[in-house]
Amino acid sequence: MKIPRLLQAILVLAGVYGGFVLVFDVILEQVIPSSLLNMYMFFVVAGTYMVFTFNEESTEEIVAPIKALVEDPSKKMMRNVVFLVVPLFFGWFTFQQMKPSFEAPLELRTIHPAPPSAVKVYGKRYNLLTLENPFRKFEKEDPEKFAELVRQGGAVYIKNCQYCHGDKLDGKGPYAQGLNPVPLNFQDIGTIAQLQEAYLFWRITTGGPGLPKEATPWLSAMPVWENFLSEDEVWKVILFLYDYTGYSPRSWEHE
Ligand code: HEC
Repeated sequence: MKIPRLLQAILVLAGVYGGFVLVFDVILEQVIPSSLLNMYMFFVVAGTYMVFTFNEESTEEIVAPIKALVEDPSKKMMRNVVFLVVPLFFGWFTFQQMKPSFEAPLELRTIHPAPPSAVKVYGKRYNLLTLENPFRKFEKEDPEKFAELVRQGGAVYIKNCQYCHGDKLDGKGPYAQGLNPVPLNFQDIGTIAQLQEAYLFWRITTGGPGLPKEATPWLSAMPVWENFLSEDEVWKVILFLYDYTGYSPRSWEHE
């Protein structure tokens, strides 16, 4: 039995492709880069084409089944099926290729990287190891004043932060869906409840760009609030975050 020439050509291509993958995967134990594989296959396809269309006779032989499919009246059914399946396949394939991927990058992101020991914002240097919220003392000394500061912090939050972090501080603001990494959920026990106010001050004033390298390769959309809020506003919004969620910041005394 003679294998049709077209099928022969297809088998040669499939065999070479399988061979490349096998050599790299099994013998060299390497993943072959797709750009390299595409380049190899380009030359293999070109070579196969030249061999199989070497003279007129062999060209005709290889083209015959395609010609028959397109022209032969008795193959109408088959033709319709092929003309439906092929475009559908390429449509599906292109869709899969273009579809954005939300898979995590291979490297894991450190959500709470260690802060630097000092941060330079508002033209000053702050020692993060000793920095405290200047308004925190009013919680005991003057509860009324404290409540007013929290209220002002709430206003800062609603004006600036809720778009991403959500009006319930749960990280589900209207913009949150489009962001990756997602805005953090302050109601979660794993975020601000674990942190000191100095840490929040650092994160809020320097935002995503202030994150150290271990927090990459994902780019955080958290803005650099040093550019938009005063120092007092940052401290007040921090008061608000703890007050609303009912958590207390971690403090140095408890360590
Ligand atoms: C454009 C969206 C956006 C806005 C607006 C925004 N944030 Fe964020 N924020 C993020 C994202 C995304 C993250 C998570 C990635 C990261 O840690 O940088 C984050 C992280 C944080 C963190 C770190 C929490 C932790 O557990 O490490 C704090 C604190 C924070 N935001 C406070 C604020 C405050 C306060 C405001 C308003 C003044 C604000 N954010 C406004 C997007 C935003």
